[in-house]
Amino acid sequence: MTVSAPHSAAQAGPGAARPSAGSRSAGRRIAGRRILVTSALPYANGQIHLGHMVEYIQTDIWVRAMRMHGHEIYYVGADDTHGTPIMLSAEKEGITPKQLIDRVWREHTRDLTSFLVSFDNYYTTDSEENRELCATIYSRLAEAGLIDAREIEQAYDPVKEMFLPDRFIKGECPKCGAKDQYGDSCEVCGSTYQPTDLVNPYSAISGATPVRRKSTHYFFRLSDTRCENFLREWVSGLAQPEATNKMREWLGEAGEAKLGDWDISRDAPYFGFEIPGAPGKYFYVWLDAPVGYYASFKNLADQRGLDFEDWIKPGSTAEQYHFIGKDILYFHTLFWPAMLEFAGYRTPTNVFAHGFLTVDGAKMSKSRGTFITANSFIETGLNPEWLRYYFAAKLNATMEDLDLNLDDFQARVNSDVVGKYVNIASRAAGFLIKRFEGRVQDSAMQHPLLGTLRAAIPAIAAHYEAREYSRAVRQTMELADAVNGYVDTAKPWDQAKDPANAALLHETVSVSLEAFRLLTIALKPVLPALAAKVETFLGIAPLTWADADVPLSSAQPINAYQHLMTRIDPKQIEALIAANRTSLQPTETGAAAAAAAGKAKQSAAPSAEAAKSETISIDDFAKVDLRVALIVDCKAVEGSEKLLQLTLDVGEAETRNVFSGIKSAYRPEDLVGKLTVMVANLAPRKMKFGLSEGMVLAASSADEKAEPGLYILEPHSGAKPGMRVR
Ligand code: MSP
Ligand code: ZN
Repeated sequence: MTVSAPHSAAQAGPGAARPSAGSRSAGRRIAGRRILVTSALPYANGQIHLGHMVEYIQTDIWVRAMRMHGHEIYYVGADDTHGTPIMLSAEKEGITPKQLIDRVWREHTRDLTSFLVSFDNYYTTDSEENRELCATIYSRLAEAGLIDAREIEQAYDPVKEMFLPDRFIKGECPKCGAKDQYGDSCEVCGSTYQPTDLVNPYSAISGATPVRRKSTHYFFRLSDTRCENFLREWVSGLAQPEATNKMREWLGEAGEAKLGDWDISRDAPYFGFEIPGAPGKYFYVWLDAPVGYYASFKNLADQRGLDFEDWIKPGSTAEQYHFIGKDILYFHTLFWPAMLEFAGYRTPTNVFAHGFLTVDGAKMSKSRGTFITANSFIETGLNPEWLRYYFAAKLNATMEDLDLNLDDFQARVNSDVVGKYVNIASRAAGFLIKRFEGRVQDSAMQHPLLGTLRAAIPAIAAHYEAREYSRAVRQTMELADAVNGYVDTAKPWDQAKDPANAALLHETVSVSLEAFRLLTIALKPVLPALAAKVETFLGIAPLTWADADVPLSSAQPINAYQHLMTRIDPKQIEALIAANRTSLQPTETGAAAAAAAGKAKQSAAPSAEAAKSETISIDDFAKVDLRVALIVDCKAVEGSEKLLQLTLDVGEAETRNVFSGIKSAYRPEDLVGKLTVMVANLAPRKMKFGLSEGMVLAASSADEKAEPGLYILEPHSGAKPGMRVR
């Protein structure tokens, strides 16, 4: 990828370099701090969803809060583009990995931009900068004696002719015998094991039985005492107690030698960087991904003329923070700092891990429509700042999970942002413009209520810096309550009735608007677009923390009030859920076509004459999404005489559950491991036994009594799960 689009410029406010509100977790209290911030790099084979958005919004709020202090801060990210899953996704789509990652980069950039995530640079790990940095780091680690070459034995897919990453090997659980389990742990009994322990293993790519094969791999010797000693020291500076505890667990007691070496190479075919001097061997994606942070920053530094080396050299005075999800702590607190240390670079100042998003109390789910993509949120017409506000209201500095409760989401945004905050401006602006030419009463700026608000601003800024956003938001809303209480007591609508009260009315609305300005400062990291509208409305320069002490002035009249934000309509939430269920639902005409096809199947008499049904166009047929499906599991359904329950792999991230009336013709165990054909875009159907997410195709005679027999379709060998049938 040659483009790198800084999709929002850093906006240091007027009057740069102010002392920060400071907090221990984020470093020292010095003016003009230099800070490099990253969010984890999303994989380039999937869409950005609201789980990802927890992280990008969390980071962006922090970055914006720090920019409001005037620090020199750069926020960089990139797509994580390498590895087997991306290579296979591209293959499945019939395009090159490069074509795939270019397209996904544009989608990711669009999504992040639409949620106002203000990266200074959003790049790709598939870049020349990254290739060079990886090579340098690798060669320095080798010089330091921290790289080993070793022969290992691994699962190999003889059909696909490639080594199989663990996640592509499935089989029966060695403990409980559950079928279709991954190579690391059993979802049924919860036990963990090695992929080699699986009973009757099969390749999730081809279905073939894997064989063992030897190959040379390269290892980063994390077990070396130098690494262990360094990490024991480094861990003491981590901000989060939960992260520190995890690290201590991984490190074990001194002398326990718990750290294992890290396998950093993969064999061809692999989409990634070939290891210099080792033809056919590639850097494992998790080696080049974190280096991608530096590659993105290098690319930015070159654009802006920054001294890259000065930021990454040992002892650099710049701060470096990585925001990540708790699932990837291991990579960021063990491998990454050790790699940097022994390659002669500075190490991260801190790593900030957050928890996972659930929706309505459960893991996001495609069939429930709660696996919500960022794009669908925008396309449905929801305002991204609603989500930013809700996440902020729930986020803190811990690794606790957080729940998007859709009812609470509506209630909270409507009552807080619109009801408490925006309302203050809409009530005051009209009077000020109609009665006082839009000019505030300067003496009102000394009102004690405003003193309270101003005094609270540094504490709110400090909550942001400490990543205690929920506290910042709560405190801000308490202040908004106080302002609304003030307005309710003063009753400007009554004051306006009597011309004798003009000065009082002027004071009330002036205090209201100045209070509104102060609340806007407090919310600006969370609601940047709304804050920009407010700045235009009030006719003021972009707000910074220091502007708490620069009140509105009669010298600068406000502009006409423009509508700032609407309430969430419950219908929009319904539409959002419906939009995210569509991956399983056919279009209306598609459903009709499927129904027509089904009817044709049922009513067709055995004679060729009668079998002819109404013709359909090729376009109608194309609406039926027929796919090759691998039957990874099959069970009888308790309480049903007709049904078998099939677990189908159609090449998607999740398997499909389908109930099929074929019990009379097949024993479940005879179907497992077979390929068949399914209608993949049939509307999911709720049945007594559960949700059926599609239909497998079977041939049968019209009169099953006269001519018994039911035959499910099976493609010729060579077909792969997920292939389209057309
Ligand atoms: N590519 C790696 C990161 C490499 S960083 C050098 C990766 N990608 S990811 O797309 O799976 O996730 C990107 C980030 O989003 C991770 O920090 C991950 O923890 C976070 N989240 C992904 N799903 C999430 C939720 N459901 N909830 C909260 N965060 C989630 O990991
Ligand atoms: Zn099990």
